[in-house]
Amino acid sequence: MNCRISGKKLSIVNDFGKQPLGNGFLNKEDFDNEFFFNMKTGFCNESKMFQLIEQPNPKKMFHENYAFFSSSSENMKEHFRNWSNQIIKSIEKKNDPFIIELGCNDGIFLENIRDNNIRHLGIEPSANVAQVAKNKDINVITEFFNANVANKIKDQNGKADYFISANVMCHIPHILDVAKGIELLLNENGILVFEDPYLGSVINKTSYDQIYDEHVYLFSAHSVNYLFNKVNMELIKLEPQSTHGGSMRYTLGKIGKYQKDLSVEYYLNLEKKDGVENYEKMLDFNNNVLKHKNEFNKILNKIKKENLNICGYAATSKSTTMLNYCQINSKIIDYIFDTTDIKIGKFSPGTHIPIKDMKKFKESDYKYSVLFAWNHQKEIMEKETNYMNNGGRWIIFQPEIKII
Ligand code: SAH
Ligand code: TMP
Repeated sequence: MNCRISGKKLSIVNDFGKQPLGNGFLNKEDFDNEFFFNMKTGFCNESKMFQLIEQPNPKKMFHENYAFFSSSSENMKEHFRNWSNQIIKSIEKKNDPFIIELGCNDGIFLENIRDNNIRHLGIEPSANVAQVAKNKDINVITEFFNANVANKIKDQNGKADYFISANVMCHIPHILDVAKGIELLLNENGILVFEDPYLGSVINKTSYDQIYDEHVYLFSAHSVNYLFNKVNMELIKLEPQSTHGGSMRYTLGKIGKYQKDLSVEYYLNLEKKDGVENYEKMLDFNNNVLKHKNEFNKILNKIKKENLNICGYAATSKSTTMLNYCQINSKIIDYIFDTTDIKIGKFSPGTHIPIKDMKKFKESDYKYSVLFAWNHQKEIMEKETNYMNNGGRWIIFQPEIKII
């Protein structure tokens, strides 16, 4: 019940009831032994950190059968290519620069760094996705990062110019120890850049499906600054991103080393104005979550009453929260289609909806598809024009619930 950063008591925000692992796609014979935990969230008035009250052991979530492969989206590949190009340009004049990436997954960011012959190291505890990166000749260690691992890396490789991370920091409960490790690994002018789903976007859009076992935190400018000030680092720039339905890219340096960009004051003020650092706002968010759940169930039940079939498009980890919280099972959604080999043939966590190969989606005649990968809407709409031309309709629940 205490904040993992300040140690102060947390105030409860949401109660999503019993939830399975977001990426815990499973076989039929494992239904009886499925793991569940109580998913509640809390807010700390001191650190301003939004966080899960309870999180399953990281080894249960990140292992040799981890189901999320970063390169399953073309748009995300492009996003990481653009970002790595920016970083490469900024170190053009440096002699033997060194870049570390936390949670490099299948190498989606580091492959461009490798192509440019820049010294690099990925840290990735999920052995199967790490192996995909290693097969691309990317340097990876299969470890859960912490300050001890940071010390070992420093002894073997020296300090880094850049420490990069995307959609990983928000996964790690011992974040203060991680922050210490990062500070220790960066040289005096070293820079930390990371991006993660942004609390302000989740609240504005009521995109509560961003909350699941892996996402122990939802960050804001306030909470990131509080956290890193504890290890002598500070925010120097903030850049909003459209990825994952609304993320923020945070750039930090050691205190006093860089002049702060105007975006720092801008977002700190905006968060104050919008109440993103205020518990009352979190309670409004919870009310909106309850309303969203009722509306979503209403729309699905209406379609089922007309005896029409519904499928799901993309078995995202986010869909696990939606499905379990709204109690939607295979009586409502027949199948979820997905491109990921490791998910195909299995069943959705908790709600046990069969996962089918996305190739079969094209042959199916579903009138309604729930777009679970709403964060990839543009990419999906571009490639699924036939579905709509043949009379198929999308059930969208972000940024509002509607049928298109
Ligand atoms: N950066 C990729 C992957 C995000 S998924 C992208 O943006 O697409 C989150 C990743 O964080 C997983 O691959 C997981 O194995 C990794 N991870 C979880 N805990 C970690 C830790 N303590 N240290 C390093 N990586 C971790
Ligand atoms: P994400 O929302 O966490 O990025 O998860 C993406 C999931 O969606 C992953 O299981 C792959 C799947 N997917 C498809 O099946 N088709 C697609 O076109 C895209 C972009 C993703």
